[in-house]
This record gives sequence, structure tokens and C-alpha cells, in this order.
Amino acid sequence: MDIPILLCKEEEKKQKPADSELTFGKLFTDHMFFMYYRDEKWQDPRIIPYQSFEMDPACSVLHYSQEIFEGMKAFLHPDDSIHMFRPYENAERMNLSAERMCMPKINKDLFVNAITQLIRVDKEWVPSLPGTSLYIRPTMIASETFIGLRPSNEFYFFVILAPVGPFFKDGFNPTKAYVAAESVRAAPGGTGEAKTGGNYAATLCETNKARSLGYPMVIWLDSIERRYVEEGSGMNIMFVIDGQLYTPPLGGTILHGITRKSVIELAQKMGIIVKEERLDINTLIEKISNSSCSEAFFVGTAASITPIGKIYFKGTEYEINNNDVGEIAQKLYDELVGIQTGKIQDTFNWTYKVV
Ligand code: COI
Repeated sequence: MDIPILLCKEEEKKQKPADSELTFGKLFTDHMFFMYYRDEKWQDPRIIPYQSFEMDPACSVLHYSQEIFEGMKAFLHPDDSIHMFRPYENAERMNLSAERMCMPKINKDLFVNAITQLIRVDKEWVPSLPGTSLYIRPTMIASETFIGLRPSNEFYFFVILAPVGPFFKDGFNPTKAYVAAESVRAAPGGTGEAKTGGNYAATLCETNKARSLGYPMVIWLDSIERRYVEEGSGMNIMFVIDGQLYTPPLGGTILHGITRKSVIELAQKMGIIVKEERLDINTLIEKISNSSCSEAFFVGTAASITPIGKIYFKGTEYEINNNDVGEIAQKLYDELVGIQTGKIQDTFNWTYKVV
């Protein structure tokens, strides 16, 4: 389906910075995709100049946070073609989140087609420097005007694009993580596995505290026993223990990471045994202390694979692998990014050609 396009005027186009100046998520391209849901159907899909929209102060998303979003990336390949990474997986996850948050689903082909056409319009914005990409943020919000507590009957769905550099300022270098001591991110039966803003808002206070102590990231524990490692804020987590790759199992409180899923598949292809098992933080600290846990890393769309060099738990800092990038993290990163950027053959069929 061809989507109507309203191009911005030449003089409205923003200035593009050099790729080397890109940070994460502060700059957006010239166009966006927009459609609305009313009378039980999605209507009027269109690509328009990037713009603010007016909202009534009683708009229900502003009060009860009925909203979901996705995080995806597109990459420039050596032959100048542009490819998204596993976009149908994001379409699937958006619909999973929609179900949990009582919001309408979106036809997966429409989702992917809308983003494909939007990227084609803004293709000049896709950066080429290693470590950069075009970050894609599809978002759905409740747009009905009322403050009674019930699901909205009206929604906006929009997609914005951001040329980005690394999520962590040090890129693929070890970061430091703080194990949450005072709050939890998600409880069984809650919304933890949905990609909804509330899960992210719940991480902010503890993250601020961690940052004031010099730790950019928080590691969240389960909400019942406060013992089992669940995820980082907005990204999954993995450990190498005795040469095997461990990651907490999905169980309702953890984000269904597409990078998580891809790294598991890559590791298995490399012959690494992968275990999706609950990990007790006390056992983990013991294994870090005696070096049987030799690597830890975050995995996510924005973060890609980010090694963890130091973990702070109950007043003590523990170093992993001498604060160096581990061998397995390096191999997985090279393979993942190699496929995403078209430098390694995509035998999994994960890349989706946009143009
Ligand atoms: C992503 O990895 O795409 C996310 O949505 C995480 C967010 C903290 C940037």
C-alpha cells in the first residue's frame, strides 16, 4: 500500500550533524509517520513533516499512561542499501504490548510498510560511521479526552526517526552497574513484559541514585524475593559462567528483547551452551568473586551489546574480567553488528531491505 506523503519544505529541513557528533536520541529527522484510531479502526495513515501535535489536557495518556512503544534500528550497508533489523519481531512485540495495555493491534505489514516508506523519505539521515545507526521509535498513545478510568477508544500511532551514536557514551566498552536496593521494576502479573512507559518511569529514581554514585545503569531484581536478577533498565542482561551463557528466563516481568533473542541464536550457532535460568544475585556475586563468572553484558536495541565491568551490590564493588571486554561478548558483538551493517553474511535472514 502506498502511503500519502507530505514533504516538508526545503527551508524547513534540519541541518544534519557530522556522524561523529551524534549522541543518542536528541535529534530527529525531517518527517514522521502518523495515523489515528477511531470508530474501531486505524485511519488516515500518512507521512508528514516532523511536528508537534496539540493535545487536550484531559487526553487520557496524560493521566493513566496508556501508551506503548518500540525501539528498532536501520543500518547503512557497504553497497549503500539500508536495512532494518528484524522489523516483524518489533511488530509482533508491539501487538503483545498492545494486548496487555488494552490497546488496538496494528497489522504487521502496515507497521513494517509505514516505517519502510518513512525511512525511504528520510534516507539521507541514515548515518554511516561505525557505531551509528538510524533509531526508530514507533509509539502508540491513548488520545481520547476524558478522565474516567477506562481504556481509551481513540489512539494515535506515530513513528519518529533519530540518527544515533552509541547509547552509552563509551560505546562498546565496559560500563558499571548498580544492583537496585530499594525499588523494583516489575511484579508478576504486572506490565513488566510490555514495552510501556510506566516500566521505564519506575526505573528513574533508582537510576538517578545509581548515577550519583557513578553507575550509569541499574540491575533489577525480582519483586518477591529481591534475589533473582531480572534485567537492566530497558535492556536484558547476560552472564558467562563457566563458559556457558546465562540469561534470566522470560516470565512476564522481563522485556522480550529482540537483541536478547538474536544473541541467544548467535551463541547457539557458535556452539555456546545457553541457559535461560533464574540467577540468584548472591550466587552470582560469589561466581564473580571466584572468576567463574567471567563476563556480564547488557543486550538491547539501543545498547546493542554493552559489557559490564563493575557491579555494585550492597556497598561493595565487584570487578568482572578485570574490567575488560570479554571474549564471548566481543565475538557476539562482532557477529551481531556485522550482520546488522551488512559486513557479515546474514544467514539468519534477519535484515530487511528498505532501499
Ligand atoms: C531500546 O533499546 O530500543 C529501548 O527502547 C531502551 C531505551 C532505554 C532507549
